[in-house]
Amino acid sequence: MSELTVRDMQERDIPAVLAIEKISFSNPWSEQAFLDEMYGKYAFSKVALYEGKVVGYICAHYMLHEAHILDIAVHPDLRRRGIATILMKEAARELKKRGCVFAYLKVRASDAGAKSFYELSGFKVVTVRKKYYDNPEEDALMMMGRL
Ligand SMILES: CC(C)(COP(=O)(O)OP(=O)(O)OC[C@H]1O[C@@H](n2cnc3c(N)ncnc32)[C@H](O)[C@@H]1OP(=O)(O)O)[C@@H](O)C(=O)NCCC(=O)NCCS
Repeated sequence: MSELTVRDMQERDIPAVLAIEKISFSNPWSEQAFLDEMYGKYAFSKVALYEGKVVGYICAHYMLHEAHILDIAVHPDLRRRGIATILMKEAARELKKRGCVFAYLKVRASDAGAKSFYELSGFKVVTVRKKYYDNPEEDALMMMGRL
């Protein structure tokens, strides 16, 4: 995907981001949640653009050595083309620049596809949070990766 570019999320990206969010998650983030991330002090959000359109995004928090990947999704029509991998690498680059050494994230226990993606990105399951998610109720796998 040579035409893919990654840049900071802007307010004008939010409708496209929300559309991807709604088809990707049973408990999608709201517009306000993305705005909070965009303007958060220890946070950043990036979008991937393909042919000028938002096709994926990633949101992360950081504090001292530790980071949290909070949200990542790619438009269903463009999955399995390496877009999330590019977003994760870009986030890792930014987080390392800010002094982070490792990152945590949570994933639904049944989401084998996302878990595979995270394992390929260097994350490993470190603990389970029982009944962390609702709609439907489900455990969260907490994963950690070195940046
Ligand atoms: C998880 C997600 C972000 C992956 O995005 P993507 O752009 O398709 O991922 P990539 O193309 O970079 O995948 C890289 C590798 O991860 C693994 N992988 C990615 N998605 C996978 C899936 N659904 N099943 C199995 N392995 C998968 C594969 O090894 C893949 O390499 P390959 O395509 O050469 O086999 C995307 O499926 C998505 O948006 N899902 C819905 C939202 C979501 O679940 N987010 C994570 C919540 S915790």
